[in-house]
Amino acid sequence: MKYSAPRGTKDILPTESRMWQIVEDKFAEVCRRFGYQEIRTPTFEQTDLFARGVGDSTDVVQKEMYNFEDKSGRPLTLRPEGTAGVARAYIEHGLASMPSPLKLYYNISAFRYEKMQKGRYREFHQLGCECFGSEDATADAELISLLRIFFIELGMSHFNLEINSIGCPECRPQYRAALQDFLRPLLPELCEDCQSRFETNPLRILDCKNDHCHNLTQDAPSPLEYLCPDCQEHWDQLRQLLDNYEIPYKINPRLVRGLDYYTKTVFEFVSDAVGSQGTICGGGRYDGLVELLNGPHTPGVGFALGFERLLLELENQGVEFISYAAPDIFLACLPEYRVFANSFCYRLRSAGIYAEADTSGRSFKSQMKQANRLGAKYLMVIGEDEVDSGSGMIKRMSDGEEFKMSFEELVQFLLTGN
Ligand code: HAM
Repeated sequence: MKYSAPRGTKDILPTESRMWQIVEDKFAEVCRRFGYQEIRTPTFEQTDLFARGVGDSTDVVQKEMYNFEDKSGRPLTLRPEGTAGVARAYIEHGLASMPSPLKLYYNISAFRYEKMQKGRYREFHQLGCECFGSEDATADAELISLLRIFFIELGMSHFNLEINSIGCPECRPQYRAALQDFLRPLLPELCEDCQSRFETNPLRILDCKNDHCHNLTQDAPSPLEYLCPDCQEHWDQLRQLLDNYEIPYKINPRLVRGLDYYTKTVFEFVSDAVGSQGTICGGGRYDGLVELLNGPHTPGVGFALGFERLLLELENQGVEFISYAAPDIFLACLPEYRVFANSFCYRLRSAGIYAEADTSGRSFKSQMKQANRLGAKYLMVIGEDEVDSGSGMIKRMSDGEEFKMSFEELVQFLLTGN
């Protein structure tokens, strides 16, 4: 039987993993600059955490979760996203007693049983941030500025930020009612999904991907017209901050997001490159989530970035990373000097240099080929003279120029580049 990776999953091969590491390292580094500390939570949680946190009526909970029972019959779920688990950990470990706001970041795999498409997987990866303890729009703007710096430092030249406010439990019921009034006469013409969302989650009708539904709802009322004074002030402050930071954005009154916990700010970074799966990153404020999960009243705001979609966008914008690191030096030798070459290789590696030597009994000629294939920057041939004198010639592979030096000098040369 020929095995293959399960549908919707993807192997990250050595040719790609370097790129993943660069993106992960940059994200961690930018997060640290903003005071975000890493949190790691389990890959699976109690099913009820997501049903409650993400919301019973969402597509994620209704259709997409990988639910299972363990051998003791406990209902568990592979996490479809990171926020609920992080909020659970925040409550469980009393993190509210840590200096506030508490800023956490994560790098996780997540699981959703979705139809496969470009940029859409069943196991995918998210880089995310969650900030607990500030209800001020400055925390929202800080996260957006973090993302912008991250994108720029990765080499991206353009990105589209869309923002909206969907109000709070105070003002959303009025908006929901107005939206339902608008939608009611259109109901027979809307798709089945939208018809079933009408009672449970009418806001989601606004981001239905069906063109017909989209066109029919063009003139739907905007949540921005129904904000209570508190939400209005928050919304005004967010826009002022973004203007002040000179971060361009588009107001998209139809942006509602697919998860139930959002209040006030919602935002997305969208790309034209990722096809219909254009959202690279989504986030927003969730001031009621911690309380909903039986924790203390704690405002929160965060985002998650789809790793695979970000890589598609980087490719689209022509951002290139070196796919693997080339050896600083390759030590080629005749068979009788293999032990010496490998022990010298070990010395160089101990000194912090990426050195390679033959470990599989290759002929001298095929070692030279190997040095070329790996893209070694320098080559040194180890033979009797080199072993006796403790020195040798190294050849710069890019132009063939040769330099004579002792082994000690070689270490310095490779470490400092001269
Ligand atoms: P989300 O919009 O469901 O939000 O997912 C965030 C990002 O994950 C999406 O914008 C997309 O890039 C990526 N993504 C989602 N599903 C898939 C998939 N099937 N295949 C590939 N990529 C995917 C959340 O998950 C929230 N927890 C974000 C958040 C954090 N809000 C506040 N804090």
